[in-house]
Amino acid sequence: MLLSVENLIVKYGNIQALHGVSFHVNEGEIVTLIGANGAGKTTSLHSITRLPPPEAPRVVSGDIKFKGDSILKTQPSSLVKDLQVALVPEGRHIFGNLSVMENLILATYSRDKDIDFSNEYKRIFDLFPRLEERKNQRSESLSGGEQQMLAVGRALMTGCTFLLLDEPSMGLAPVLKYELFRTLKRLNEEGMTILLIEQNASLALNLANRGYVLDTGEVAAEGTSEELLNNPEVKKAYLGG
Ligand SMILES: Nc1ncnc2c1ncn2[C@@H]1O[C@H](COP(=O)(O)OP(=O)(O)OP(=O)(O)O)[C@@H](O)[C@H]1O
Ligand SMILES: [Mg+2]
Repeated sequence: MLLSVENLIVKYGNIQALHGVSFHVNEGEIVTLIGANGAGKTTSLHSITRLPPPEAPRVVSGDIKFKGDSILKTQPSSLVKDLQVALVPEGRHIFGNLSVMENLILATYSRDKDIDFSNEYKRIFDLFPRLEERKNQRSESLSGGEQQMLAVGRALMTGCTFLLLDEPSMGLAPVLKYELFRTLKRLNEEGMTILLIEQNASLALNLANRGYVLDTGEVAAEGTSEELLNNPEVKKAYLGG
């Protein structure tokens, strides 16, 4: 098992956001966490990556393990550098005043300076040809969809083997959504493990091997994607009937 989240209870100040959440991700899998606004999806991800305060959720009890070892005390930077985990955050958070290429270069910051990254940039541009066409453009001038591609490309340039994505399809036109999801499938076929957070349950379950439904800070249902797609309650609440 690559990642296991065990009975996680998480608070922001006095507000309890997670009430004992458990889920796991095996190497090579695509696992999705779905659920409505405020269900605790981003909190679950940020508990793993522990983005700096003030956003950082506080883990009150439970554990998060990577290959069997607790990472609750692991530095966020070490997660990227040593465990090869990268986050594509909700809302992209690219550096708008930098060019596409500069955003990609920045992501290699923690890596060995002797590495020749040219093949990796080539891989990103192969996955997202639009980024190559715009590589010298200031990234704030990219469309929302192109910014999302850059956010994924930037995460890949950290050299990650485990990708965490928080609502990557948010705000994208249907065509771009499908394109992005096809790219995620391709990355997974090349060996990338993926934990995907989505509000678009149907899209997510059609891509993922397994999923968990979060509801007000608890896991309300879990199973293979097929099981969840055929679960009457999941259908009613998240799949439009
Ligand atoms: N920084 C914060 N301070 C206080 N409460 C927070 C904070 N971030 C989230 N919460 C609360 O924690 C709960 C879970 O929020 P979270 O952001 O994890 O939901 P989500 O499933 O990602 O929702 P969305 O689909 O809207 O992104 C919500 O009740 C939210 O109001
Ligand atoms: Mg969220």
